[in-house]
Amino acid sequence: MKISLQINGEQHDADVWEGESLLYALRERLGFPGSKNACEQGECGSCSVLLDGKLVCSCLVLAAQAEGHEVVTVAGLAEDGRLHRVQDAFVAAGAVQCGFCTPGLIVAAADLLAHDADPSDDTIREALSGNLCRCTGYAKIFDAVRLAASS
Ligand code: FES
Ligand code: FES
Repeated sequence: MKISLQINGEQHDADVWEGESLLYALRERLGFPGSKNACEQGECGSCSVLLDGKLVCSCLVLAAQAEGHEVVTVAGLAEDGRLHRVQDAFVAAGAVQCGFCTPGLIVAAADLLAHDADPSDDTIREALSGNLCRCTGYAKIFDAVRLAASS
């Protein structure tokens, strides 16, 4: 089936299978590999994107459900060639090791700060609880979110 959707501000069309996930379509058909595929079961958050402004695991959304809707991936957070403050903060805080979790965490953290400019540690913990990281121990990730909130 054919779908048409907006991704990072631009219109895109794709020919997808009815049961195909938005994650698969983004990565394999549409050229947006920023959303990572780690579990494909809604457990890790590495595939997080904004769908009409709502944080979702793109592996749990059918590509067909995105027809006519607006998707923002980690690459779409940058504006006018400048990194989003959360992207900058992850670099500055050294919150990236293997990087596999990073796109999903950045999308989730950007979503958090869009709704809460000065989140408490508990709020950060809750907001990022769906995003797993095997490398960092989370301390640097928390530092990055606090840094982004203060910038
Ligand atoms: S790949 Fe979607 S939650 Fe893990
Ligand atoms: S940096 Fe490797 S999983 Fe998070």
